[in-house]
Amino acid sequence: MELFEGINLYIQYVYLASAVLFIFGIKLLGSPATARRGNFLAALGMFIAIVATLVNEEVLNYEMIAIGIAIGAVIGAVLARTIKMTAMPQMVAIFNGVGGGASAVIAVSEFARISDGDISVEGYIKLTIMLGVLIGFVTLTGSLIAFAKLQDLMTTRPVTYPLQNIVSGLMFLAILGMIVYLVGFEFNIYVFYALVALSLILGIQLVIPIGGADMPVVISLLNSYSGVAAAAAGFALGNLALIVSGALVGAAGLILTNIMTKAMNRSLANVVFGAFGAVTSSGPVAVETRTARSVGAEDAAVMLAYARSVIFVPGYGLAVAQAQHQVRELADLLEGKGVRVKYAIHPVAGRMPGHMNVLLAEANVPYDELYDLDEINDDFRNTDVAVVIGANDVTNPAARDQPDSPVYGMPILNVDQAQHVIVLKRSMSPGFAGIDNDLFFKDNTRMLFGDARRSVTSLVSEVKGL
Ligand code: TAP
Repeated sequence: MELFEGINLYIQYVYLASAVLFIFGIKLLGSPATARRGNFLAALGMFIAIVATLVNEEVLNYEMIAIGIAIGAVIGAVLARTIKMTAMPQMVAIFNGVGGGASAVIAVSEFARISDGDISVEGYIKLTIMLGVLIGFVTLTGSLIAFAKLQDLMTTRPVTYPLQNIVSGLMFLAILGMIVYLVGFEFNIYVFYALVALSLILGIQLVIPIGGADMPVVISLLNSYSGVAAAAAGFALGNLALIVSGALVGAAGLILTNIMTKAMNRSLANVVFGAFGAVTSSGPVAVETRTARSVGAEDAAVMLAYARSVIFVPGYGLAVAQAQHQVRELADLLEGKGVRVKYAIHPVAGRMPGHMNVLLAEANVPYDELYDLDEINDDFRNTDVAVVIGANDVTNPAARDQPDSPVYGMPILNVDQAQHVIVLKRSMSPGFAGIDNDLFFKDNTRMLFGDARRSVTSLVSEVKGL
């Protein structure tokens, strides 16, 4: 008995060490320069927490665990190696889903253990089991719907029906009632089944009315839920590492959700209940009559090579075209000619937080050339050429100037204030928000049509020839 207590105490210390590693890991993830180290530290923390748990005397079957680890490791390694950067949001959605599902399964097994053995446990443990079931299963089905939307397996538009929010509210109330009954009165197996079923349905119900453009915000929110579900499972099991890591994920997910909604000038309630992007009118669609002026690579290269300052503005199209290495090459060439080069990074450019930072880091763009929206927005008016590479919504002046625009109020990069603007994209198609961009019709804007990688490659060879 004493030996077990000794082991338990030792395990708690290891959990504490892993919590410290998680926290330092997250801190280091705050800057691209230290992010790799941060990732490593957090992974090390998780590794030692897992090892400590495996030496715990309560483990009954090592074979099953070994099989689980082998299957999970193979799937994880293959996915990490093969996933495309543009499909990262879907992958995160699946990760959240399985994380939430795992916590829910732990909660179900704790319920089974307690109700089978007629063990009497404290009320708060029962409550955390129920919360683990609710939040875990909501996260599971909600994340699967988010995955299906992002993978185009179902419509990316909001799926709505009359009184939808009221139905969700009633489901939530019914779930609360069941939890109160199970915790306060009787551990009834049929009520528990109903709780599981309703939680699974609620996850679907909450995510179907959310449009594809808002999906990254929802994924961040579901990420937070998966953390809360893990923390609840941690309480049910009395596992310190699970409580700490779950709480960290829960808090980090919520902070990120907040940052993203702010950058889109939306409230969380508007994202979750607003059905943004739903088709609301069947009236006539305004036909665009203005014409945009295009430019060839040769003329654009002259503008760039003879500029004093150039700001590159990357967006989702850079990720699609995978043009980051060519952009770096172009920037090096321009710097060689004495041009001052900067990169403007909008917080929601691309399709996931930090998307542009990751891409540019891949091409070894120096971190000190990357500027956040607030740092660089005043520089555009003193800049000779702004080069927009596959960005659209994050440069739309309507967000600043047109109160009736759906994106009005979203902070944008003031690209239109540069002396000249060159926009690299394939067509006049809108971006994620599905609206036209006035920037393309401004007098100082020239469109360089084509795939961004091809266009930048042409610019590189033209600049070399000058
Ligand atoms: P978008 O507004 O989505 O525009 C991307 C543009 O890239 C498109 O207009 C497209 O035009 C162009 N493009 C696509 N493939 C290309 C290629 N191969 N070569 C050249 N151009 C290409 O992108 P953005 O400005 O980065 O804005 C991001 C949007 O996503 C915002 O609306 C934001 O609110 C939303 N969003 C982002 C996040 C995060 S966390 N990043 C989260 C939620 C929502 P063509 O088809 O004509 O080429």
